[in-house]
Amino acid sequence: MEFERVVKNRHSIRAFQPKEVEEEKIKKILELTNLAPSAGNLQGYEIFLVKDEKKKIALADAALGQDFIAEAPIVPVFCANPARSASRYASRGRDLYSIQDATIACSFAMLAATSLGLSSCWVGAFDEEEVKRVLDIKHLKPVAILPIGYPAEKPYATGRRSLKDLVHEI
Ligand SMILES: Cc1cc2nc3c(=O)[nH]c(=O)nc-3n(C[C@H](O)[C@H](O)[C@H](O)COP(=O)(O)O)c2cc1C
Repeated sequence: MEFERVVKNRHSIRAFQPKEVEEEKIKKILELTNLAPSAGNLQGYEIFLVKDEKKKIALADAALGQDFIAEAPIVPVFCANPARSASRYASRGRDLYSIQDATIACSFAMLAATSLGLSSCWVGAFDEEEVKRVLDIKHLKPVAILPIGYPAEKPYATGRRSLKDLVHEI
């Protein structure tokens, strides 16, 4: 799918069909995600690809009861790896770059999923400590949960700020 169509076709979807996502598509999403830029090419993030039903339900609970998360067949969770980025960039790596790396990777995954005819919703509202418990991690920081699957609802286009309001030409 051409880039402009991918961007325009992407809308948050919060209901998923029980249909599995094909392994080739999962692999493609992960391979494209792995091409995301990162500070110093350190890739200061980790991806937890959650497929286990119980863990998906636990994630939905940790995300303040956003039950659609558990409907999605795959739920990648993007976590910053602060120590990895701090190894070269000290506090800027720990506090900023690792989070940016995880965020960019999640954006790539979201657009890759759209390009393959899949839907997703970026989920940022969650109890961080609960998500860490579900993933059994201590030194990583969960940044975004991205349930991916085939849509079970019609997407709708959301509005945006005008460029005049958004862009400050100086
Ligand atoms: C950082 C971030 C956090 C978000 N958190 C949630 C969330 O917890 N639950 C949810 O349903 N949508 C969440 N969203 C999705 C937004 O609500 C959605 O992107 C926005 O309304 C624009 O709609 P669109 O994605 O269809 O263009 C989040 C999006 C971002 C970028």
